[in-house]
Amino acid sequence: MPDPDKPMYKLRTKMSRIYLIAACMALLAIAGIGCNASSDAPAQSSPDEPVAEDSAFNTAIGFTVTMDPGERLPQLQPEPQITDQEFEQGLPEAVVSVPDTVDPATNQPPFFIGLQNVTVEAGEMVSILFDPEDPEGDLPGMFIEKLPQGATFDDNFDGTKTFNWQPLQMDVGILRLTAVAIDPDDQSYLTTQAVLVKVTEAEDPASIPNVAPSLDPVRVFTARAGDPVVFELKGIDLNGSIPTIEIPALPDGASFNQHPRFEEIFVLKFIPTQAGELSIDVLLRDSTDPSLTANETITLNVSDDVSLQRDGERLKTLAQSRSVLIGFAALQSFYHQPDGALYASIAGQEFNVVTPENSMKMDTINPLPGRYQFAATDNLIAYAQHTDMQVRGHPLLWHRQLPDWVLETPIEDLESVMTQHINVLLDRYGNDVAFWDVVNEPINEDGSMRESIWFESMGESYIDKSLSQVRAMLPDSVLLINEFDIGMAGPKFDGLMQLLDRLQSRGTPVDAVGFQMHVFSSYDQFNELRANFQAVVDRGLDIHITELDVSLADGNASLQDQASVYEQIVSICLEFSQCRVIQMWGFTDQYSFRSIFDPLPFDRAYQSKPVYQALQSALSATP
Ligand code: XIL
Repeated sequence: MPDPDKPMYKLRTKMSRIYLIAACMALLAIAGIGCNASSDAPAQSSPDEPVAEDSAFNTAIGFTVTMDPGERLPQLQPEPQITDQEFEQGLPEAVVSVPDTVDPATNQPPFFIGLQNVTVEAGEMVSILFDPEDPEGDLPGMFIEKLPQGATFDDNFDGTKTFNWQPLQMDVGILRLTAVAIDPDDQSYLTTQAVLVKVTEAEDPASIPNVAPSLDPVRVFTARAGDPVVFELKGIDLNGSIPTIEIPALPDGASFNQHPRFEEIFVLKFIPTQAGELSIDVLLRDSTDPSLTANETITLNVSDDVSLQRDGERLKTLAQSRSVLIGFAALQSFYHQPDGALYASIAGQEFNVVTPENSMKMDTINPLPGRYQFAATDNLIAYAQHTDMQVRGHPLLWHRQLPDWVLETPIEDLESVMTQHINVLLDRYGNDVAFWDVVNEPINEDGSMRESIWFESMGESYIDKSLSQVRAMLPDSVLLINEFDIGMAGPKFDGLMQLLDRLQSRGTPVDAVGFQMHVFSSYDQFNELRANFQAVVDRGLDIHITELDVSLADGNASLQDQASVYEQIVSICLEFSQCRVIQMWGFTDQYSFRSIFDPLPFDRAYQSKPVYQALQSALSATP
């Protein structure tokens, strides 16, 4: 966000409010929507207005980072809790998975005998015997899906194993312990059996042993010599207190501070000067017994500029010469990651358009009614302005990543929730966002309309209403419907085209179709993609590729196969002057929502992959 004290910004804000009222009045005519929203939008003095973050806590260079003020707003949509009632109902039913090759009539599934739900006091030991049997008389194998911290699963060398655990204060609640028995004749013939373990508060808390703290695991990162690095180190103590963290040998020039908002986090910031592997020792100290400590080590790979160099032209330079924008979706708060400076630098060199991967989603930006977390999106926009990138707003309306309060809103009130949401986001970001994914994923696989809460509340008109509202408020921004699985022929794409036909016949504004394009390296429906692009263009609409990534299909898929899919998709886009934007869903495999499939053009250490050369080649081919 621009500096709110700058007169220019105040003027713009004021104008956008005046404009909003006019837009709202226009809307009344179009869709009968109320005009109260802008006055409800949080003003600059709102308790949720982000505040400046000290640079000791981030890697940002050249743009200002703010943080949401005060307490962390409660995490909504927590892990589903197991209720006392469920616990009282007894042992959950076993689930058997039968492979095609097995006939359960001749080979019956293995099962566990003698299990029941267990209650234990925090601080006491609990032991549970797992005794799997096979109706055919052989000995089944077994494992436990996820052991709680400090627990063991010990072999009794008689076909049984014992789960041993001493739960502590942090474990109070009901845990689902999941054991799997493996049929002796077929390794994929499995019986999954859960046992519920209820850990109650200790009657005498002093009886609970005090255990040493530990460090929340830190994975390996690659940073660049000369760039700032931050490590957010989080201490864990199963006794429920917050350990302190010390760095016995601080790197030269390092700062080390407790996080201003999150007591349990300590932030180390320093600038590595030399390439190579760097190890830093970390000492955790128990807060109730300072003599109780734990030692851990974190490792950082430091690269130099030379090893990060890429041959040829940068992607955005090539894209510019083809009149197309090229970009990515940005990891939320990348400037809080150890490699955040390198991430920001490479993206700044390569791209000229960016989408916030998560920070604008409703559960993140508006987790409670009337309460907002704007900092992450504000910061992304500050970064985009600093690096001359355009911004895609994503998504205004979606059926996923909705806060609980919205899911619980009576259906008849959802229209005003929608209008208000759009007003708040457009009021704040309208000047800074060029493209809006107004409606995300409205179509089912069979081509019918997805029954999202928005659809249930307003029918298909939620699409007309939202598009009209955005057009009225921001006449110059580009409005999209964004959809996945439309890179091939089929009922889903047809359903989308029929929706567009209906919208257009009703005079509803829409400018472009967003093709997400999360595909696998086995993808080969290029002709169908071309035909789909043509169908969009035939309707007078533009094409944006909004979320491209190409997952490695299986162990045999090569990086060349992956590169070739990228190259062909980009080349087909460039066949159409109406294909204006190509964005990937991230750019490094380090931070992909499909990172297990390594789908992006840079690897985890920020080395370019064959995909990168393929993009260069597609963007520089003679039209
Ligand atoms: C994904 C993000 O990448 C994940 O981090 C998040 O957990 C789930 O959402 N289609 C979309 C994107 O429109 O918003 C989704 O992003 C990926 C699929």
